[in-house]
Amino acid sequence: MKVVILETPQAVANYGAAMFIRQLTSKPTSVLGLATGSTPLALYQQLIAANQAEIISFKQCSTFNLDEYLGLAPEHPQSYRHFMNEQFFQHIDIELSNTHVPNGAAQNPLTAGDEYEALIKAHGGIDIQLLGIGRNGHVGFNEPSSCLASRTRVKTLTQATIDDNARFFSAEEYQPHLSITMGIGTIMEARNVVLLATGESKAEAIQATVEGPLSASCPASALQMHLSTTLIIDDAAASKLKDKAFYQHIERENQALLKRLSH
Ligand code: F6R
Repeated sequence: MKVVILETPQAVANYGAAMFIRQLTSKPTSVLGLATGSTPLALYQQLIAANQAEIISFKQCSTFNLDEYLGLAPEHPQSYRHFMNEQFFQHIDIELSNTHVPNGAAQNPLTAGDEYEALIKAHGGIDIQLLGIGRNGHVGFNEPSSCLASRTRVKTLTQATIDDNARFFSAEEYQPHLSITMGIGTIMEARNVVLLATGESKAEAIQATVEGPLSASCPASALQMHLSTTLIIDDAAASKLKDKAFYQHIERENQALLKRLSH
């Protein structure tokens, strides 16, 4: 996996956004895998700006979100569908019918996962998947102990994740403890994966992802087996990496090589 360490969260967003811009420029019909949470917001802002400046268009692309709370209808203000509409989709030129989020209000949640998988397949698979990471190493809502070959399905949230996400809910509001999420196996089939992490609170999970053993205890560590994963992290999230200087050296070498090749 490629580890890119940058000074600030804004630099992380800019680097990630540039990868999505390149993807959309080379393939306007791209299938994008998207995430919710706080981390990708600055990247979405960059993509919105690029769209409004007519640098990229989302007209021909389609999107698949990682996850949704089980029990929340799409129009629920706390649903991830609502989050995506508010934070991203309504600001860009995408056809809403080309955007997909697992159905948290599915009649039968046990078959909804297979239907989502079939839809991804029918679209030709995901070209580039955006990920955040939980403090416990989860990606999507694949909590520690998730099967590393898992597909989209219902997952129970850990108390740690419920506590981390409580900030989005008011005190008297119902907070779901179940989700429907792409599996690790689903994520591993994306052609490219871009994982963003910022802040000290993610440092331990990042260390386990990059340098820990491949283990369901840190679901993101499965990405060690992915052929095209880029971790874009800030200094704080990189602070527990034992070989930080080496990853920075590799990135400098990569940039120098790219520069040489472009001349
Ligand atoms: C969101 C998702 C989660 C988040 C993770 C980090 O769709 O699947 O895995 O990416 O919980 O959340 P933030 O970015 O809020 O720290």
